[in-house]
Amino acid sequence: MSAASQLLKQHLQQRQMLGKTHVALRPGTMDRLTGVVRESAVRAAPAPEPSRSFAAAPAPAARILLEAPPPETKKADLLEVAGETLEEKLAALRTMAETWEPARSMQSLRKTMVFAVGSPLASLMFVGEAPGAEEEKLGEPFVGPAGQKLTAIIKAMGLERRKVYISNICKFRPAMDNQGSGNRKPTAEEMRACVPFVLTEIDLIKPLVIVALGATAAEGLGIPGTVGGLRGKFHSTSGIPTMVTYHPSYLLREEQTGDGIRAKRAVWEDMLKVMEKLGLPISAKQRGYFQTK
Ligand code: URA
Repeated sequence: MSAASQLLKQHLQQRQMLGKTHVALRPGTMDRLTGVVRESAVRAAPAPEPSRSFAAAPAPAARILLEAPPPETKKADLLEVAGETLEEKLAALRTMAETWEPARSMQSLRKTMVFAVGSPLASLMFVGEAPGAEEEKLGEPFVGPAGQKLTAIIKAMGLERRKVYISNICKFRPAMDNQGSGNRKPTAEEMRACVPFVLTEIDLIKPLVIVALGATAAEGLGIPGTVGGLRGKFHSTSGIPTMVTYHPSYLLREEQTGDGIRAKRAVWEDMLKVMEKLGLPISAKQRGYFQTK
């Protein structure tokens, strides 16, 4: 697709996100637009992926973006990105997020965009809710106290932070009066403005398993409910097994209020299921963490 077609499509997607359902076209534009649609609808499947950081299971079948997907699928929420390689596409998506009008025009979101971190070849993807103060400062998700907790969980699973992929539903820190270091959950409207990004990241990376950290992340992925009700079993995000577990901030709060072990045990049980699903080795020591005697 040409750069001009790409820009036009991006513009139309942004207009749609802003609730605009009609555009005025000059004579002749329709022919060119039809060309855009045809070109992308017959786009060839991507080249075979290089091997993943871990897990022997085959990657899910590659999916092709179509312009007019059936409304019940998530395809309508995907963004079309330029680039040949996965890295180029992710870089283009990151650039698109920087200037994403539906989020930028929202006064309730701050202006620093925090994208994602980790390996594009990751088999495991973690999804949080939104960046906080530390994340905004460093431009990387999960680097504050909750991030340190998440990194410890990843390590306990025998993995490295740089080999998984970590993203958020909302790419901008939700604004507050007298913000200081305070953070809040994104609203449904704020999530709606950003969710095409995480869905497109999922579509590009094709992780074998997703972990939604907390009910807000789960809701953003289209899995509504409480963590208590959702955790412990796999749900689906565009066909990818998705485990919902407690947000690391919840673990930190529970540590303070006294039932930290119960919460940690629950998260660890969920992570063992994730490891099993990925075919990762699990040692007796790992099985034994937080086990009741
Ligand atoms: N909490 C989140 O959900 N995401 C972050 O990036 C940091 C804290």
